[in-house]
Amino acid sequence: MNALYDDPDFLDGYRRLRRSGQAINEPLEIPAMNAALPPVAGARVVDLGCGEGGLAVRLAEAGAADVLAVDASEQMLAAATPHPRLRYQRADLANLDVPPASVDLVVSSMAVHYVEDFDDLVARIARWLVPGGVLVFTMEHPVMTAPVIAADYVVDDYADEGRRERTWFVEGVIKYHRTIGSIVASLHRHGLQVERLDEPVPTSTQVAANPALAIHRRRPPILLISARALELLTGNIG
Ligand SMILES: C[S@@+](CC[C@H](N)C(=O)[O-])C[C@H]1O[C@@H](n2cnc3c(N)ncnc32)[C@H](O)[C@@H]1O
Repeated sequence: MNALYDDPDFLDGYRRLRRSGQAINEPLEIPAMNAALPPVAGARVVDLGCGEGGLAVRLAEAGAADVLAVDASEQMLAAATPHPRLRYQRADLANLDVPPASVDLVVSSMAVHYVEDFDDLVARIARWLVPGGVLVFTMEHPVMTAPVIAADYVVDDYADEGRRERTWFVEGVIKYHRTIGSIVASLHRHGLQVERLDEPVPTSTQVAANPALAIHRRRPPILLISARALELLTGNIG
C-alpha cells in the first residue's frame, strides 16, 4: 500500500499546496478532466486514487448512479466528502479488483504514475468496463517523470521506463515513468481505443493572472487520455 499520503510531513505540504492556489489541479487538471468526461447520468463509476473525493463527488452530483472511490491513504479518505451515491474504499490500485463488466466509467486524477505495473492495471480496468465503457485519466506528464535525476524542464532518460525518486515535500517520493508510446500501447493491447489525448497548459490569460503558472507553458505538467472499451461484435458472419 502506498503510504506517501499518510506521511504527516508530505500530507501537510500537499494540503498547503492544494489550498495555496498555486497547484496545477484547479487551473489545469480539473477543467481538462471535466472537458473529457462523457455524460454520467445513471453511470456506474470507479475513481482510482480519489484522494479527498473531489472528482467522485462531482460525478455523483452530476447524476452517476453509483461511484466507488478508491484510495490507499487513510488520511485522504478520512477527509473525503460523503455523498449518498458514493462509496469510499481503502485499497491499493496494484491489486484492486472489481466484478467484470460492472462499470461504465473508470476515472483517475493524477494517481496512476504511482502504480508500478501500469499494463496490469489497464488489463484489470478493461475487464471491469462494459463494452463501450470509458476510461478517463490524468497523470504526471512523461516529460516530467522522465529524468532519473530530477530537473525542471529538462527531458532526459525518456526511454528508460521505471522507478523514479523525487523530493516533493519529503525525500524519497516514488513515481513510475513510462513513455506516451507505451501508455497508449498498453491501452490498445487490452482493447481500450484512445479517443482523446490532451496536454493541458495554462493560457496566456491564466499566466497573466497568475505568473507562477508560466513554467507550465515551458513543459506540459499533465497528460490526459480518454479511451473506450471496444464494443463486442454481435451477429453471425457469413
Ligand atoms: C495527487 S493525489 C490526487 C488525489 C485526487 N485524485 C485529486 O485529483 O485530488 C494522488 C492520490 O493517489 C493515491 N494513491 C497513490 N498510489 C496509490 C495506490 N497504489 N493505490 C491507491 N491509491 C493510491 C494517493 O493516496 C493520493 O490520494
